[in-house]
Amino acid sequence: MPVTRIESLTFGIADMAEGTRFFEDLGLEKREAGAAGARFRTPTNQSILLRPMEDPDLPAAPESGPTLREVTWGVDSAATLEAIGAELGKDREVKRTSDGVLHARDEAGFALAFAVADPAPAAPERPRVNNYETSTRVNQRVAPRERLKPTRIGHVVYRVLPAVRMKASAFYLERLGFKLTDRSLMVGDFMRLPGIGDHHQLLLMTIGSKEARFDHAALEVAGFDDVLWSGGYMQQHGWKGTWGPGRQPLGNHVFWHFANPCGGEIELFTDMDRFDDSWQPVIWEKGGPRPVWMIGDGIPEVLRQSLAKAGEKPGGPA
Ligand SMILES: [Fe+2]
Repeated sequence: MPVTRIESLTFGIADMAEGTRFFEDLGLEKREAGAAGARFRTPTNQSILLRPMEDPDLPAAPESGPTLREVTWGVDSAATLEAIGAELGKDREVKRTSDGVLHARDEAGFALAFAVADPAPAAPERPRVNNYETSTRVNQRVAPRERLKPTRIGHVVYRVLPAVRMKASAFYLERLGFKLTDRSLMVGDFMRLPGIGDHHQLLLMTIGSKEARFDHAALEVAGFDDVLWSGGYMQQHGWKGTWGPGRQPLGNHVFWHFANPCGGEIELFTDMDRFDDSWQPVIWEKGGPRPVWMIGDGIPEVLRQSLAKAGEKPGGPA
């Protein structure tokens, strides 16, 4: 049942002007904007939709306030869409809207939808670097860069209560064909889509989770340099970095998180590990490997406390 990517994210928000400015500063292309909502597009043709949070057409979220109200997953064909509708219809309500999109709810209470994917080709600029025997930038200085365009939406992370974690993950793994990459008993379940997939395109996180809520969504940029260029641009425009820059222990991606006025956080990332269907999931009894490196805002207090409790010392290479 091939789900191929995230097709769109729909946020219900309180301040349309601020939310619009945030995603503009992140470098997404604004296609529509007004009091009733805004729509942004990635170069690979995924959408981020902003709607007033009191819009009655938005699905409810487990949490109140501005937040992610629905993830639409793109699937490979109309036949797959029908198969998912039939599968989920066995034990839950599945609504079809006039645009042909199917809407349902997962085991943790989050709204999700399915649509036939409509990807566009994108060719992000390859980072030009020089080192010993490699000269990819000759007679050319590094040009100052400001607002960069993220290539795509890479992953979504929800916080789920530990009591529903296994059931919530099984829904994606057994009913929708997601693949488990790593299961950290302390942190959560890192799942990817079939084929060659990012280490995680969905993470159900339990560490420090006291309620079901949206944690963050991640936008991919072309290279390490771009995370810092783009993150620096965000800082200069008044947006608050919440975690990073750093390189993650699970996924190994370079990342930098920013507080999102539309709810949760948005992560800029690059160079995540990828896996194919031959990968056997790894169960980590504690948190998993230690952070590879971390500067800036370092490790959030909740993670520091949990790792200390589990007998692991965060903050440096193993
Ligand atoms: Fe992330």
